[in-house]
Amino acid sequence: MEIITFSAIKGGVGKTTLAFNYGEWLAKNGKHVLLIDLDHQSNLTQTYNIYDNQDTVGNIFLDRGKVKIHEISAYISLIAGDMHLDDIERTIENKTNKNMFLYMWLSDNYERLNLGKFEYIILDCHPDFSTATKNAVIISNAILSPITPSEHGYNAKFNLEERINELRKEAIDYSTRKSYVTTKLFFIANMIKHNTRSSRELLKALKGDPSVLATVPEKELFNRSTLDKNLFQKWLKTTKHILINMNFLIVWTKHLMKSRKNYKYFIHVLITRILNTCACEL
Ligand SMILES: Nc1ncnc2c1ncn2[C@@H]1O[C@H](COP(=O)(O)OP(=O)(O)OP(=O)(O)O)[C@@H](O)[C@H]1O
Ligand SMILES: [Mg+2]
Repeated sequence: MEIITFSAIKGGVGKTTLAFNYGEWLAKNGKHVLLIDLDHQSNLTQTYNIYDNQDTVGNIFLDRGKVKIHEISAYISLIAGDMHLDDIERTIENKTNKNMFLYMWLSDNYERLNLGKFEYIILDCHPDFSTATKNAVIISNAILSPITPSEHGYNAKFNLEERINELRKEAIDYSTRKSYVTTKLFFIANMIKHNTRSSRELLKALKGDPSVLATVPEKELFNRSTLDKNLFQKWLKTTKHILINMNFLIVWTKHLMKSRKNYKYFIHVLITRILNTCACEL
């Protein structure tokens, strides 16, 4: 099982969009995916037209009540977000095990809920480094963090790196001194425009950085893909270029990306890279 968290300190950078598209892509390729919505805005949950606030992810943190796993399709399941998750986080703030609720829930329910059938768990976080996000980091094999071209976009990268390192020191098993945080952190440059200074500067700053998995252009179809699932497929067919920088200096040009096969290959390479870099299992 691979556990992958989409997280960023900054809002509106594409966490939910990428989590949704990544999950859908895996499902289309026959992988069983469990999505967990850890954002009280519940955008990922609403994408699947789920609006009830019963038996949500909140119960994992309250350590009581049922947690419903919605079967969206044969390959996609979802634990719905809770509009009160921010309040719930405040109520557990003083508990010593507050960062371990997800970890404990997964191990306590692994067999009873047959969680082993999921090859991927994908978590979507609120734009902060709150208790819920820390819980996600602790169980994750990889964190994927979108960064966008803006004044503070690049700084957000360091901010997240620093916070994860702090958590790495803090969340330890006191007898062995081993950290529960074993995750690797990767970045995806998102919403890159081909003609703006901020996009060019961001790409320049990220060039050759092995933690940057991919560069995704700003595309109107991508923008709407969380609202209409089929649009992502359309986007794959119609978009003219995707740049991908994976420390192997693979740069896709418009020419290379003109066939559908190449789009598919882009996604394949991105995901293979993620899988190869987070080989550890829970
Ligand atoms: N590559 C892209 N091109 C164009 N629009 C995009 C792209 N990626 C994301 N968007 C759009 O940007 C907006 C914000 O994206 P999204 O909701 O995924 O961000 P988020 O990081 O999850 O936000 P929040 O921090 O509020 O949870 C959405 O309208 C989304 O469709
Ligand atoms: Mg979101």
